Amino acid sequence: MAQIEVLSEVSKFLEGSPKMTIGGKPTEAGSGKTFTVIDPSTAQVITEVPRAEMGDVDAAVASARAAFDDKRWSGLRPGKRTEVLYKLGELIKRNINELSQLESLDSGKPIKIASGEMWMAGEVFRYFSGWPTKMFGETNPTTDDQFVYTLREPVGVCGGIIPWNFPLIMAAWKIAPALAFGNTIVLKPAEQTPLTAMRLAELALEAGVPEGVINVVTGFGEEAGQALAQHHDVDKIAFTGSTEVGRKILHASEGNLKRVTLELGGKSPNIVFPDADMKRAAKGSMFGIFLNSGQICTAGSRILVERSIHDEFIESLVAATASMRLGPGMDDETGMGPVVSEQQMKRVTGYIDIGRSEGAEVVSGGNRAEELGDGYFVEPTIFAGVRNDMRIAQEEIFGPVAAVIPVDDVDHAIEVANNTIYGLAATVWTNDLSKAHRVARGVKAGTVWINSTGQYDPSTSFGGYKQSGFGRELGVHSMEAYTELKSVWVSL
Ligand code: NAI
Ligand code: MG
Repeated sequence: MAQIEVLSEVSKFLEGSPKMTIGGKPTEAGSGKTFTVIDPSTAQVITEVPRAEMGDVDAAVASARAAFDDKRWSGLRPGKRTEVLYKLGELIKRNINELSQLESLDSGKPIKIASGEMWMAGEVFRYFSGWPTKMFGETNPTTDDQFVYTLREPVGVCGGIIPWNFPLIMAAWKIAPALAFGNTIVLKPAEQTPLTAMRLAELALEAGVPEGVINVVTGFGEEAGQALAQHHDVDKIAFTGSTEVGRKILHASEGNLKRVTLELGGKSPNIVFPDADMKRAAKGSMFGIFLNSGQICTAGSRILVERSIHDEFIESLVAATASMRLGPGMDDETGMGPVVSEQQMKRVTGYIDIGRSEGAEVVSGGNRAEELGDGYFVEPTIFAGVRNDMRIAQEEIFGPVAAVIPVDDVDHAIEVANNTIYGLAATVWTNDLSKAHRVARGVKAGTVWINSTGQYDPSTSFGGYKQSGFGRELGVHSMEAYTELKSVWVSL
């Protein structure tokens, strides 16, 4: 055990009962209500934050609208916006220790991993800081007596609704492109993990983002989230979360037909062929499902293994899993932390019971790790003997539970891989080049990883097929989500 000491600025932040940021000002809920924030490693309350309701969301949207309409952000010289966004990325990195601790305490993430994530969130701002100077339009090949060109314009007021699995990274994924393309935003972090987004709003002001351009409201999905999704003065919603809530967002958005992008659930296949580097495949597949306690939308939760190596691969996977050290987030030797909440723990252990009753065999883990105290610890769990039609192979568990499914060959692997309502990601382990690319073409998924898994980069667009959602975030294609295209006709 190597417990990390809580930094004084972290204690100070928590003791100061963090506020929302609306119009650049620290703001409490109009009702004065708050809700508690819990450390999943201990099940202890660490602070309270404002519980925003419709009126608070109205105020935040009004602030974002005013900031958009008077062009205090989009009207700045593009190079100036670059400077500010880059500086925000720098400030995240400069405050990496404080932010990592907040993230770890809030979500249960291992501190070392939280630190890597804070760095990545900074990188997202650095990447998007390059875009304000690259919002090019086109000239169109019409007739000689016409001059037609296109303008890229910001969409307006954006709403971002994000989950608890990567709190600061998700905040960066919504805020950085919105601002890079000239929009303003109201962000609602998940009620389980509001802290780093609240701190980010403060850092943004320090970086020079004008007041009202980034507003952060904390509250529950059915209250603050719903109010934002249905708001008539919000022009675009970017949502990441469950497929079930994605549907609700779509319904809520119909009043003013706001633009919507949805990053939803997954049940991603991780396919292992006999010609793969077995050590690498076992270790990679293990991280693919157990990193972040399996709470990753792209988690490789269905491990498809060619029959000829099935038993041997399970042995390697179980051995690799044994090296995953379960423990509290604020211990720098922890490899896997708790799941985020009591509710999530019950959901995950409930699915483990379902897997057993469906006749799958637990070959590793299978229980709550009670020896670690009151925290929400679930052992990394591997099911063998899974059929693809079982519930544990079809439903997103969002916890440390892998389902190993035998397959016959490449075609069968692709067929099983696609036999799901989801289409977020897929991983394939093989040293046969043509096999790798056949799978890459064959699977219906927004991302395919060959001989690695869980890779992200701000340059590379991300999103889902089928019920994993629509729209693409990051990379050049994020421009579609955050801009309007205007065609201008001039008669000569
Ligand atoms: P969720 O989808 O309910 O929460 C995500 C965000 O949506 C949160 O900010 C929440 O406050 C907000 N929200 C909830 N209901 C809303 C509504 N009616 N209108 C507007 N916003 C709303 O996810 P939850 O309940 O935390 O987790 C349940 C399951 O969802 C997980 O077990 C997992 O399977 C899945 N999930 C998937 C994620 C992904 O990235 N694919 C992320 C989080 C959860
Ligand atoms: Mg929910």
